[in-house]
Amino acid sequence: MSAYDGRGSVTEASNQMTENIDVASPLEFISMLKVCDEEIFSGWKEYKGLFHDSTLAVIDRVRNVAASVLKDPSNGLVVLSGCGTSGRLAYMTARSFNSKLSANGIEPCFRYTIAGGDKALFTSQESPEDDPYSGIKALQRVSAGKCNVLLIGITCGLSAPFVAGQLDYCLQNLNIFTPVLLGFNPTCLARNLPIERWNKTFLKVVEALKIAQAENRAHILNPVVGPEQITGSSRMKSGTATKILLETIFASAYMSVFHPDVVWHTDRFMNAYSNICGCVYSHPDALAELVTTAGESLKNRGHIYYIAWDTLGLVSIIDASECPPTYGASLDDVRGFVEDGFTFMQNDEGNLSGLGKHFRISSDDFTRDVLPTLTDLDFVIAYIKGKSEVLRSTVRVGPALRPSADIYMPLCLPEQEIRSLCGNTVLWKEWSYLFSEIACKWICNAVSTGAHILKGKVYRNIMVDLRVSNNKLFHRAVGIIERFTQLPKNQAQSFLLMSIYNTDRLTNEQEASAIASHIEVATPQEKIVPCALLTAFLECPIAEAKQILSEEPVIRTVVSKILERQ
Ligand code: F6P
Repeated sequence: MSAYDGRGSVTEASNQMTENIDVASPLEFISMLKVCDEEIFSGWKEYKGLFHDSTLAVIDRVRNVAASVLKDPSNGLVVLSGCGTSGRLAYMTARSFNSKLSANGIEPCFRYTIAGGDKALFTSQESPEDDPYSGIKALQRVSAGKCNVLLIGITCGLSAPFVAGQLDYCLQNLNIFTPVLLGFNPTCLARNLPIERWNKTFLKVVEALKIAQAENRAHILNPVVGPEQITGSSRMKSGTATKILLETIFASAYMSVFHPDVVWHTDRFMNAYSNICGCVYSHPDALAELVTTAGESLKNRGHIYYIAWDTLGLVSIIDASECPPTYGASLDDVRGFVEDGFTFMQNDEGNLSGLGKHFRISSDDFTRDVLPTLTDLDFVIAYIKGKSEVLRSTVRVGPALRPSADIYMPLCLPEQEIRSLCGNTVLWKEWSYLFSEIACKWICNAVSTGAHILKGKVYRNIMVDLRVSNNKLFHRAVGIIERFTQLPKNQAQSFLLMSIYNTDRLTNEQEASAIASHIEVATPQEKIVPCALLTAFLECPIAEAKQILSEEPVIRTVVSKILERQ
């Protein structure tokens, strides 16, 4: 968690540009997001970002494997896999390219796996991320009967055991599988901590991948795009870079197979994403107004609702799904809806709306469940392809909303510009929707991140109130306590355990338990890390720390008062 020192993971480091993001004005906040997002393209420190020659070379090699699958879909398969946001983007990309193939009468050949199954597309399911065996099982299930399988295992931090299991399984079966690791740390910083009930670390798998890579039987795609705006929140820059890389690989493979006459330039295609980034951030006033309005809604116990058409609905549902694990938000605080709901989703497990209201995601569900409850504290954002119309709901007239103010954000580059970037009309026609999706992602990420910062959920650029619900988050929590208290790691961990077990004195059994057991106890609990921090700083009993936290619900206020007094 310390500022980057060249040794720790880049994806878990604090970005210097956002160290004061919690006290920035909305306009300053937007400019911080912009500078950090630009690092995806321009690079960070000595790293060159997405345009590094070695990244472009790996993209080409993976593109060739993907093209071999597209040419023979009855024997071949592309499997995209990941945890949390990485798994959601795997789903979205698989869906997107299958739709394109079907629309052209070609057999769909993309599948996805996500830790925790389809429930995890909407609500975070973090403990399955720690299980390499469930990753292997999911891969075996989707790839049964295929003899040429490209697996892209996405883990931004080069850390998820679910993905490690799959990559390792592919390495044992290279006659069928070509494994690709997609993430955003240098390989030497892959996680080297034990994976419970398994005999390898992530780093060990990476070392084996490197050996297979030397024989062109595996690939590692790991450009460094710099630390996240909110420390460790890989849904943001890493998620964006994941989306760009997957789309670039498969768009390029698709063009090489079905439009071999069109000249393709990978760097020009990725440059179009860079331009749309510039285009989104060239409206700082509109973005700042969105963030301010969204923040007011959340601060006043209102809600943010995204309603969107087409694949923009998927982007906004994904953004909403990330708020509970990232900000300790409730499932009602930010919600996304897509016209046609599950009919449009085309997810493996079908209609999940029976699981409860948070799985009711169609625009009809919005009309039925949400519209009658709207008040002027709620903020409704409608994303419409081609432009974004943003409505602030103040008055409900019958079943309709009357906006109090409209804020418009463009969701695409002018056709002319994309054409010149992409080179020709075929490219523009085929792929312009991807640029609208990425613009929508940047806007949603700004809105939900900014709103939670304004609600006081972030201290400096750290989300201190994270849920301790898997191995990575356990170690992140220890890192936060270490960083703020300057205590050695073992003592920081003891304070975390005291908070988890709600005790001032840990038993030998508690101290000796496996991390998985600590996580099981911690997962349902709130404010574990703030409580550990307060106990360490005030040298007070756990009960007193809990009392202080119950009197002041805004985490940032409590933590800053205590820390700034030291
Ligand atoms: O454990 C939760 C989480 O941090 C999610 O928020 C994130 O999307 C996911 O893990 C994936 O992380 P990675 O891509 O590094 O495996």
